[in-house]
Amino acid sequence: MLNKLKDRWKVNTVNLFLIILTFALGGSLCGYLGRKVLTATEMDKGALWVITYILLITLLWPLCVLAISIPFGQFVFFKKYLLKIWARMTGKNKKKIPIAIFASGAGSNAKKIINHFKGDESVTVALVVCNKPGAGVLNVATSHNIPTLLIEKEQFFRGDHYLPVLKQYGIEFIVLAGFLWKIPGGLIAAYTNKIVNIHPALLPKYGGKGMYGQFVHQAVIDAGDKESGISIHFVDELYDHGNIIFQARCPVIETDTAESLAAKIHALEHAHFPVVISQLIKNENQR
Ligand code: GRF
Repeated sequence: MLNKLKDRWKVNTVNLFLIILTFALGGSLCGYLGRKVLTATEMDKGALWVITYILLITLLWPLCVLAISIPFGQFVFFKKYLLKIWARMTGKNKKKIPIAIFASGAGSNAKKIINHFKGDESVTVALVVCNKPGAGVLNVATSHNIPTLLIEKEQFFRGDHYLPVLKQYGIEFIVLAGFLWKIPGGLIAAYTNKIVNIHPALLPKYGGKGMYGQFVHQAVIDAGDKESGISIHFVDELYDHGNIIFQARCPVIETDTAESLAAKIHALEHAHFPVVISQLIKNENQR
């Protein structure tokens, strides 16, 4: 429980202790002041008293907690905490989280993701990154008025060359949807656990270098597997290797070809990938 809170609030043990203490003392102070004010009004104890008391402590609580947080050195945490509560209550101040899609193929997944987030109040696809001039995904992006960035191999593998561009677009999360280059360490370090990939098989089977597109589906058929599926995973420095976030399965029947299996897999990808991305980003942002 305590570790969960530390993780959620991104604080160390000492700060967690001071935060809990601030909550406790702030709450007590607010209860004490609320009663004092009501005693001064000499109001009869009854339903009205209770309602007024609740209203009073709702107003006093943020002030008390902020006041107590100062001597404990937790003012910045509580200011942010209260602003977050306020933004949630009012639905205002909601900044959309800009994400980038990296893709180099037809872009059918990119299209689904873009459509999924159209009109979404918290996430927006702000950039499509592609390494292949003329790739279908570039048209997909352009037709949705999303800026594109065509990257160059040598500069990409320098690891941090494109970071300033990503930062310029405010990119907070990266989705690989049919992007075949390995992601360099510099980019992974800048976006730890914020880059996800989709692989058209049930990892850890049929992953790794050279395992993409029809090669994957043919390998599944050649092995005589009775099922295949999709894997959505975090990206690390190895191909198709990071922690798996989600998998979905489909049957492989005897008459399946690499093409027919690819169609089943695409249907699974389109149904699940945008939803999983959305949940992941929103969960992370609620912390
Ligand atoms: C998908 O099958 C995905 O699993 C793989 O590349 C393919 C991209 O397809 N990583 P599309 O370009 O989105 O149609």
